[in-house]
Amino acid sequence: MKTLFFNIKELVQIRDSSTLKVQGEEMKKLPTIKNAFLVVEDEKITDFGSMSDLQNFNADQVIDSRGQMILPAWCDSHTHIVYAGNRESEFVDRINGLSYEEIASKGGGILNSAKKLEESSEQELFEQASQRIKEVMRLGTGAIEIKSGYGLSLESELKMLKVIKMLKDTFAMDIKATFLGAHAFPNQFKENKNAYVDLICDQMIPEVASQNLADFIDVFCEVGYFDVVQTEKILKAGKAYNMIPKIHVNQFNSIGGIEVGVKCKALSVDHLEVMNEDDFEILKGSEVMPVALPSCSYFLSIPYTPARKIIDEGLPLALATDFNPGSTPSGNMNFVVSTACIKMKITPEEAINAATINGAYAMGLSNSSGSITKGKDANLIIYKDIPSLNFIPYAFGSNLIDKVMIKGSFI
Ligand code: NIG
Ligand code: FE
Repeated sequence: MKTLFFNIKELVQIRDSSTLKVQGEEMKKLPTIKNAFLVVEDEKITDFGSMSDLQNFNADQVIDSRGQMILPAWCDSHTHIVYAGNRESEFVDRINGLSYEEIASKGGGILNSAKKLEESSEQELFEQASQRIKEVMRLGTGAIEIKSGYGLSLESELKMLKVIKMLKDTFAMDIKATFLGAHAFPNQFKENKNAYVDLICDQMIPEVASQNLADFIDVFCEVGYFDVVQTEKILKAGKAYNMIPKIHVNQFNSIGGIEVGVKCKALSVDHLEVMNEDDFEILKGSEVMPVALPSCSYFLSIPYTPARKIIDEGLPLALATDFNPGSTPSGNMNFVVSTACIKMKITPEEAINAATINGAYAMGLSNSSGSITKGKDANLIIYKDIPSLNFIPYAFGSNLIDKVMIKGSFI
């Protein structure tokens, strides 16, 4: 099956295959071709260029894209979309003045979701997560990472990871799985936290690996959750089974998580709402992708990640949703891109780079997602007739998407 899009108003984020991520000043540039064509064969992008270079119109499907911009689909490198039920009552508790930490210490938060998950079957979880996947695909997400972490026992963590595997087998889009057994301490380990760390390292990680259920290993490194020593131990245990670290750090406090991430060669360090000067220095010279989650800051009313400073310091930045029932009940990457521009003061070009090519890097998909590149997957957002690229983050809350293509098929 060959599809030709022609008369494209602007084809955005065109790259050659050697660009794996962009950082610092480079993030301000978003290469585009005005009045362009694009050829998709089966699942892949096979050609593109200026209309003046289009040789012929031979294709099974020829689409006149007059007035339309085409972007690579969003790459959402941080989600927790397998969960049971919702936590809207905690949302109201927060409106009434409680903090995220206070809710968690009263038995809400992650442990609340863990209880709901324990009571749900694999099939129920699969159905709920499928609805969320379908929703985010319609919103332009073309590749996604999903974490476990609401199981917190070997049995329930395996249940979550099997659901992620079912999603991988069901949906066309690339899905990466992350083992996040170290998301919170279950109540029975409150007095002996290291025993839970040992359970993760000695039993959960080997079993998850033997069933080949996780690409990445994650830890919530935070005061009241996992400290830096526990974090490093878990990352090393995961690495021994070929799980690459991708970690939650610096959401509420800077306790050394970034340093552990860099030391363990993490693919990404995520959240980063609270950063000190040393944290920036540690990131420089590493290959680690800093990931900001602005919808989480928006929803919890906590500080935004200093994205402007991260980029000004010459570092790269990716943007993701953090879609989860507690801190971010939204998987809308369009909102993430707008919010990053509005609240973090990064430019539309920077935000789009962060949500595409750098998002792909943050989940190990640089070779197949994140840009308009020959040989990459045909994951595309085809926009309605909009005046300019800047209009995308500017018109926040409006649905500007006409169609989404994932691996060569319209959804
Ligand atoms: O990324 N910070 C830790 N984990 C999630 C929230 C989980 C929850 O509240 O259910 C996050 O924000
Ligand atoms: Fe998260």
